[in-house]
Amino acid sequence: MANRIPEEKVEQVRSAVNIADFIGQYVQLKKAGKNLFGLCPFHEERTPSFSVNEQKQIFHCFSCGRGGNVFSFIMELENLSFPEAVVKVADFGHIELPATYTAQSQPAAPKDQQQADLLKLYADSAKMYQHILVNTELGEPALKYLHERGLDDETIQTFGIGYAPANQLLLDFFKEHQTDYQLLRQSGLFIENQNGDLRDRFVDRVLFPIKDASGRVIAFSGRILKQSPNEPKYLNSPETKLFNKRSVLFNFDLARGAIRQQKSVILFEGFMDVIAAYRSGIQNGVASMGTSLTDEQIYMLERVTDTLYVCYDSDMPGQKATDRALKLLGGNSRLTLGVIQMPDGMDPDEYLRANGRDKFVQVFEDGKQTPTAFEMQYLKHDLNLQNTPDQLTYLQAVLEQLAKLSSSVEQDLYLNQLVTEFDLDKNDLKAQLRSLVGKQAMQRNDRGAQNMTPPPETAPLAPPPATVDGGTNNNAPLSRVEKAERLLLYRLLNDHDVWLRVMAIAGFHFIHDPYQQIFVYAEAYFKTHNQFDLGNFTDFMADSDLQPVVTSLEFMDVASETSKEEIADLVNVIMNQQPLVLQINQKKAELTAAKQMGNHELVQQLTLALIELYRKQQQVLAAQEPDYF
Ligand code: GTP
Ligand code: MN
Repeated sequence: MANRIPEEKVEQVRSAVNIADFIGQYVQLKKAGKNLFGLCPFHEERTPSFSVNEQKQIFHCFSCGRGGNVFSFIMELENLSFPEAVVKVADFGHIELPATYTAQSQPAAPKDQQQADLLKLYADSAKMYQHILVNTELGEPALKYLHERGLDDETIQTFGIGYAPANQLLLDFFKEHQTDYQLLRQSGLFIENQNGDLRDRFVDRVLFPIKDASGRVIAFSGRILKQSPNEPKYLNSPETKLFNKRSVLFNFDLARGAIRQQKSVILFEGFMDVIAAYRSGIQNGVASMGTSLTDEQIYMLERVTDTLYVCYDSDMPGQKATDRALKLLGGNSRLTLGVIQMPDGMDPDEYLRANGRDKFVQVFEDGKQTPTAFEMQYLKHDLNLQNTPDQLTYLQAVLEQLAKLSSSVEQDLYLNQLVTEFDLDKNDLKAQLRSLVGKQAMQRNDRGAQNMTPPPETAPLAPPPATVDGGTNNNAPLSRVEKAERLLLYRLLNDHDVWLRVMAIAGFHFIHDPYQQIFVYAEAYFKTHNQFDLGNFTDFMADSDLQPVVTSLEFMDVASETSKEEIADLVNVIMNQQPLVLQINQKKAELTAAKQMGNHELVQQLTLALIELYRKQQQVLAAQEPDYF
């Protein structure tokens, strides 16, 4: 290749950039012994097994086995070619590369051609829409609207805001450039009628580009200029090959640096709030796409920070949403949570405009609440604390919250508040709190015990399940592994978060062929379908004899809710079934890596584990001997 970056240039880039700094942009790293540890960005995990050795300038994940240098890291993470990776790292290190190399690789093009074409289409559209907003007469009303809302030209540039005028221009623009019709169809930028004719989707709307974590435009959200009862305030791009709204956070690309610096992220309700905060210097804000946070989004945030503040509107719907978000996050993430509320029932954007920047920033500095403090205030909302029954309801609810706290200092703090507010005896409150703590611990144990039992049997009245090992004798008890396989497959199909999580596990596969085949079918299915629909999926597998197996899964008596722990348990049961030889090879590879990194403790652990595996292997071989002789 003519444009190959010479070896010594590559070397120069590699030696100038510290891998820990570079990876630190994406993964929160903490020093532990010689190495830095963090949560692996390539798969879902709760305890850090991703490590960076600064001395050797390499990374390795003890869980998924990925490893390499700074270039392999970014190649894998962003699906880049080698030269693109070099350009990206050089850019980070402010190292100039001759234009011939940078030109060929920017914008960083993914390997998939269709995806690259779509990205280009979105980049061009964003440019065109912004041009209309900023430079044309057509854009004047929209520009005026934005200025009136306090957005200056710099902010408009930073966020790439544009305007789709009432008379549609985008389609003609791309037709002029002879853009492929199929590509236009797939882009989601147009609406198609029955004859296959296209027209612009966004009409007379201010457009906020939605960007992926690398800052590439993958969708738009269009705000109407004048509210109308017949039209939605915001209109989003539909889901496309590029855009999955579950895994996008508005402003994550720009906020990432600030999130790491501030060691916290602020979650807002609306785009305008994120932008308002940003232009006031609070740049660690993101927003989900008008929905509650998904597992994917929580996961994105967990990678870069430990602390999340919910800063929703302070009106009643906003408070309800805050309460919901805290409960969701409390159960689903390891993030430390807090709440920031604007005074006077306003949303952040309104508060900024009404009170100016200094007061606005002050709220973020002084107005942080713990989730408990928020709940203590929120629980009052539909109670009348002047009457005794309501008071008792309130106290009971608060004590239940306090019982969940792990810090007794914190418990004490809030108990004191209750004592003062309701003029109560602290010892009485304490006694009641202790009894609640005991009750909750007992409930946890019960639940824990349930979790230990194998996945539920099929319901007695349901038709006999089509199982695999059970063969024709459907009454034969299923093996532990097969039970796990069946429950996991059920979860995979019915819960897309589980799907994504399991797909991220390197080397995962089912033990029994039919389940594995269904898994493979499902993979193809989800490429073209956003949601699992049993009937539809059954059609999809029409050529196979697997339908009964899938159907039987639906007859199982399973709890409606799953949890990360449940999935992890199931995966473990299944993966441990791997042949000993494979397990041994895997351990060996881990051992080599650990030695390379000089992690003596781990070397010792792995060696012991390996010895244990060899011992098992010996036993198995010995047990088989009589057959051979
Ligand atoms: P402004 O009214 O322009 O200040 O917007 P906002 O950001 O304050 O919006 P609001 O608080 O009403 O809603 C919060 C978020 O919900 C928005 O940023 C959108 O992401 C989403 N949202 C609001 N209205 C709609 C709608 O009609 N359709 C869709 N798809 N999303 C909406
Ligand atoms: Mn608003």
